[in-house]
Amino acid sequence: MFELTSLKIPLVGVTESAARACAPFIGSGKKDEGDGMAVDAMRSALNQIEMAGTIVIGEGAKDDAPMLFDGEIVGTGQGPKIDIAVDPIEGTNLFATDAPGSICTLAAAPAGTMYRPGVCFYMDKQVYPRSARGRIDPQAPVRDRLAALADAVNKDIGDIKVFVLSKPRHERLVSEIYGVGAKVRLVSDGDVNGAVMAILNQGVDALFGIGGTPEGIVSACAARAMGAEMFGRMAPQKTEEVQACRTEGVDTENWLDRDTLIGSDDILFLASGLTRGDYVDGVVMGRDATGHFIATDTIVIAGANGNVRRIRTSVHQ
Ligand code: FBP
Repeated sequence: MFELTSLKIPLVGVTESAARACAPFIGSGKKDEGDGMAVDAMRSALNQIEMAGTIVIGEGAKDDAPMLFDGEIVGTGQGPKIDIAVDPIEGTNLFATDAPGSICTLAAAPAGTMYRPGVCFYMDKQVYPRSARGRIDPQAPVRDRLAALADAVNKDIGDIKVFVLSKPRHERLVSEIYGVGAKVRLVSDGDVNGAVMAILNQGVDALFGIGGTPEGIVSACAARAMGAEMFGRMAPQKTEEVQACRTEGVDTENWLDRDTLIGSDDILFLASGLTRGDYVDGVVMGRDATGHFIATDTIVIAGANGNVRRIRTSVHQ
């Protein structure tokens, strides 16, 4: 059943090579240059893999950033037919300013199983760890969701911490969380990172709030691969996006469940750290007796059984 297992190591090579390619731009203030290097390296590494891949989510459209294109065909054309979601640099501002939490990420699943978000760039998200799966009503008020979460993870509500992007659109959400005595980890960018932290019980207990739709699909892959919980609801923010969603009849009322966002258990989620992070280390560039090296750290979550691997690779140049 798990056809993607054979792609695990080749796909690790994809995020690793993208991380190595953009690493010289960490902290340079040049986010587009770094993104461009990561995109090119990713595309070239993907095209060497024996698979018939389609880029379903090529992050970048909302910001006009360098990107792999939605619908782009990658791989040799032989082997498993798969959907791929990529974010060559998730947290480009964090990357450009050498702030913690930027990653190079990719998710893969059998062809036709990833939700296509179409014209909607923004999604409202709720991500919870495995122990909360099936115990949260996504429509319920924040206080009820946090109470159900506290019960599921066996904590006092005052010990619950929620990852929220620090955006003006989240002011009310944040005050509702504070209102029940729970805590917030407010971070400027990088909600895939927040989702993975919640999924792995690493520093936060949940992620709430509106971020990119591509990041939402990647997060759903990580959630399902780990047996964790996620809900997503289309939440257009930009004027043209709101108009396009209206024209296309996009449902902005109902929460989509995790298995609608990703319809298979045969999933690979990978993230190579760029800057230092909570669950992966950042890229290290150094010099030893044999010359210059670049070291990467990658997390791989595979299948629906919560198998988590860390792969550290050092390449001499
Ligand atoms: P980029 O890497 O594309 O800059 O995305 C960073 C990010 O913070 C995402 O993690 C998040 O989903 C999205 O931006 C939120 O978008 P916006 O900054 O427009 O609110």
